[in-house]
Amino acid sequence: MDIPRPTAGRQARYTRRGPVPQDVVSADSFDVAAPAAGQVLVEVLAAPINPSDVLTLTGDYGSLPPLPAIGGNEGVGRVIATGDGVTAPRVGQTVLLPVGSGTWSTHLVLDAATLVPLPDGADPVQLSMLAINPPTAKLLLDAVPLQPGDWVIQNAANSAVGGYLVQLAKARGLRTVNVVRRDSAVDGVRALGADAVLVDGDDLAERVKAATGGAKVALGIDAVGGMATERLAQALAPGGTVINYGAMGGEACAMSPASLIFRGITLRGFWLARWFKTVDAGTRNALFAELVAMIAAGRLHAPVHATYGIDAIREAVAAAAAGGRSGKIVVVPTG
Ligand SMILES: NC(=O)c1ccc[n+]([C@@H]2O[C@H](COP(=O)([O-])OP(=O)(O)OC[C@H]3O[C@@H](n4cnc5c(N)ncnc54)[C@H](OP(=O)(O)O)[C@@H]3O)[C@@H](O)[C@H]2O)c1
Repeated sequence: MDIPRPTAGRQARYTRRGPVPQDVVSADSFDVAAPAAGQVLVEVLAAPINPSDVLTLTGDYGSLPPLPAIGGNEGVGRVIATGDGVTAPRVGQTVLLPVGSGTWSTHLVLDAATLVPLPDGADPVQLSMLAINPPTAKLLLDAVPLQPGDWVIQNAANSAVGGYLVQLAKARGLRTVNVVRRDSAVDGVRALGADAVLVDGDDLAERVKAATGGAKVALGIDAVGGMATERLAQALAPGGTVINYGAMGGEACAMSPASLIFRGITLRGFWLARWFKTVDAGTRNALFAELVAMIAAGRLHAPVHATYGIDAIREAVAAAAAGGRSGKIVVVPTG
């Protein structure tokens, strides 16, 4: 039986993009539609604010939705009504929302076929962060062949991707050197299972050598850019690979001739959105299934700095855009 359907909802809408992301978005009312045939009405339970969401508001991301738009790329919800002909998902089922569906909203009407059922008992806040950062972390670790016992190095290690990467690496028997930009981030990364945590700086390569006992490090994972990319390159063994997947520092990746030419370091990029286009649904669903099982079992998680209701969307976006957080900012629309 359907749960009583609300007639009015709230959503985080924007009609323009601009340099201060919280200034362009606001919580607006909308009429909650009844689901048509083949559709379901979903109450959104949780939806994170990722750096890509902030860059979408400022207009700096690699793909931008047409305006006006509803913020939020990923999240989870609970089905509260089904349209004619829908046999699954059932009312009450927790579901993964399709990426790009404007998830900072109390309610969404979606095609039933686009929803992936999730375990009802698992923490919806943790599940809401499933679709982007955990697969990114997992695929980054597949960038070069690695054997148990091998070392990898990453920067922005206290980011959500960084934390997932620490946990997934440990589950594979890999060892991680984790680079952060402030002392106060060290303990949190260590608590996730990091083997070494170092604060970024000019002598990074020397300190990596000391932390690993001089072991070969073949893979560097870079979310910062600028000279931080070069510092990872200097910490790699000759012939190593740096994968850049983010630009948190706002500068183009730097790589010295010494790294590129004399030490044979390769620099490549990774974008999950492009990966999704290169694989079939079966490959994508198998990856999600593996990650859902780990999250539901509590073996993979991301620290949460704070949750915000939809009416505090401006404060939430401002908090997400600020550095120095202890974890993710998550929108709990009805919270
Ligand atoms: N390529 C892809 O497919 C893909 C997929 C997912 C994510 N990403 C990217 O991955 C990165 C991390 O995403 P996330 O959701 O894990 O981030 P997050 O949890 O929001 O964490 C942001 C991280 O960036 C650091 N940071 C912020 N400003 C910085 C600066 N100016 N210089 C250096 N570090 C800075 C923060 O350090 P403090 O805590 O010290 O502020 C923190 O470690 C982002 O760039 C995101 O766009 C890319």
